[in-house]
Amino acid sequence: MARKLLLNSAQIRKARKAGRVLMPIFRKYRTRILLGFLALLGVDLLQLLIPRVIKSAIDSLQYAGATGASLLRHGALIVAIAGAIAACRFVWRYLILGFSRMLERDLRNRILEKLVELDRPFFNRRPAGEIMALAGNDLTAVQMACGIGLVSCVDAVMMTGAAIAFMAYIDPKLTLLALAPMPILALLTGLLTALLHKRFSRVQEQFSRLTEFSRSTLGAIRLIKAYNQEVAQTGYFDKMGRDYVKNNLRLAVVQGALFPFSTMIANFSLLLVVYFGGRLTIVGTISIGDFVAFMSYLFLMTWPMMAIGWVTTLFQRGITSLDRINRVLVEEPAVREPAVPLPMPQSNQLLVLRDLTFGHLPAAPPVLNGISLEIKPGFTGVVGKTGAGKTTLCQLLARIYPVADRQYFWEDIDVNRLGLREVRSRIAYVPQDTLLFSDTIEANIAFSRPGAAQQEIEKAARLAAIHDEIISLDKGYQTRVGERGVLLSGGQRQRIALARALLTDRPVIIIDDGLSAVDTDTEHRIIANFREWLPGRTCVMVSHRVAPILEADQIVVLADGGIAARGTHRELLVRNRFYRTIHDHQMSNPGTGD
Ligand SMILES: Nc1ncnc2c1ncn2[C@@H]1O[C@H](COP(=O)(O)OP(=O)(O)OP(=O)(O)O)[C@@H](O)[C@H]1O
Ligand SMILES: [Mg+2]
Repeated sequence: MARKLLLNSAQIRKARKAGRVLMPIFRKYRTRILLGFLALLGVDLLQLLIPRVIKSAIDSLQYAGATGASLLRHGALIVAIAGAIAACRFVWRYLILGFSRMLERDLRNRILEKLVELDRPFFNRRPAGEIMALAGNDLTAVQMACGIGLVSCVDAVMMTGAAIAFMAYIDPKLTLLALAPMPILALLTGLLTALLHKRFSRVQEQFSRLTEFSRSTLGAIRLIKAYNQEVAQTGYFDKMGRDYVKNNLRLAVVQGALFPFSTMIANFSLLLVVYFGGRLTIVGTISIGDFVAFMSYLFLMTWPMMAIGWVTTLFQRGITSLDRINRVLVEEPAVREPAVPLPMPQSNQLLVLRDLTFGHLPAAPPVLNGISLEIKPGFTGVVGKTGAGKTTLCQLLARIYPVADRQYFWEDIDVNRLGLREVRSRIAYVPQDTLLFSDTIEANIAFSRPGAAQQEIEKAARLAAIHDEIISLDKGYQTRVGERGVLLSGGQRQRIALARALLTDRPVIIIDDGLSAVDTDTEHRIIANFREWLPGRTCVMVSHRVAPILEADQIVVLADGGIAARGTHRELLVRNRFYRTIHDHQMSNPGTGD
């Protein structure tokens, strides 16, 4: 009943659904929660005892029998109760607020576990700032609702229930009078909280946008300076900030109205009790002690009454945030793991594509259309105009995007029937956009194989023709590369990424335009190293330039979503006009792109 007054049915449904996420966490800490609530119950019961002691003291004054010693005893009793209340209060705060922090940690871990499980299609849809807001504001809102919010709610219900019982014991009619304003309070709180919910959602969404904007501004700081966009960028940020404040103020109006409103209702009850209770005392229906005790109970109820509005806000926020978190937790990776994976083929370097068709967007025409290709151990080069689908092909081969059944095989097994981790653990993938961490060169290379020996790291760096440059740096392999590798040149970054892939020593390596920023000489050295390293492995190399793939066993020319031609360099020079054109162009202008 109380929940219905505070939350509407859609919110209750949402809370139930999202609550399933929290159930295991509540179960895990049930002993702590139970003990915490027992301590809270102790606080409430002890608090309810105090008015009884006051009544007894006053009655003893009114009806004689009071002595200095007896009053002192009453006073001492109140002090003792207050001491016990303080102890119980400490216990519940320690246990329940501690629990809410543990819940926050567990939920944060679950969010991160989910995020690392999810794959590219999800991150293409959801901006990083929005996801970061989940682990910030949203998590705090859930933690507050499950900690102090839950405690205050239970406290309010227990305290109100018990206070009403004690009041009714003194005088039922007076109790009814004192409670008369309550339905109005419930009704108006309900209306205000619905409004609050709407405004809070808007504020949260705006906060996500702000976070995303700051993140992308920081990421693009060099670009912003190069194009003199500082003023425009800060201006836009300022506008977003103003909107955020405006919406927050709109939220504050509702939040601000809730609290004074509850207080006013509480005072209205007090007015009724003073008037009608006072009259009952004058005619002698109740004793002065009862009258004072009644007022004390009403005071004890004041906090829970006022808490209704505040607790409702906390729950509204908590539910909205938990729902947002839950929407991420229920996401499933697009590349699915088979229920019962087949064992990996013994020899696993033959990759076969049969009529492979793939589009990023269901509504748009497919990016790759009917690709049939055998990628045998050895060297396969891929060329094609920009936007032809080369990266998409690499990502499909590396199992970053999902493929339909019976379109991609390892040996003769459909990859969709093989364990995802097993397949990925046999592929070293060098993405087109080099990704380095703000760490040392060594850590960046060893990322693919934590704990690799120094010699192995150096061997990989030699293969990628970057070792000599690394040791010429002041701190050698311990040199820090800066945020996303900004302290290195583009070519150095690419070769570190290449060394990272080579360190894994996996049977299949996919390099998406991984030598584009490397000079011709270095490129030759890498290709020569490759020649020695390649036997027994399968390598797919996308390149805008023909030079790195001249010696490939087969070169695939991608165009219009399909394979326009396939063959060796010599064959293609004769057979394919596109290939011949880029070859002639690049050979007469070495060092240029396509
Ligand atoms: N995540 C995505 N969502 C929607 N469309 C995409 C996505 N990624 C790529 N595309 C589209 O797919 C097509 C092929 O892109 P892809 O990156 O595979 O080309 P590419 O051959 O690697 O180009 P480049 O030589 O410039 O690297 C392009 O038209 C591109 O706009
Ligand atoms: Mg590409």
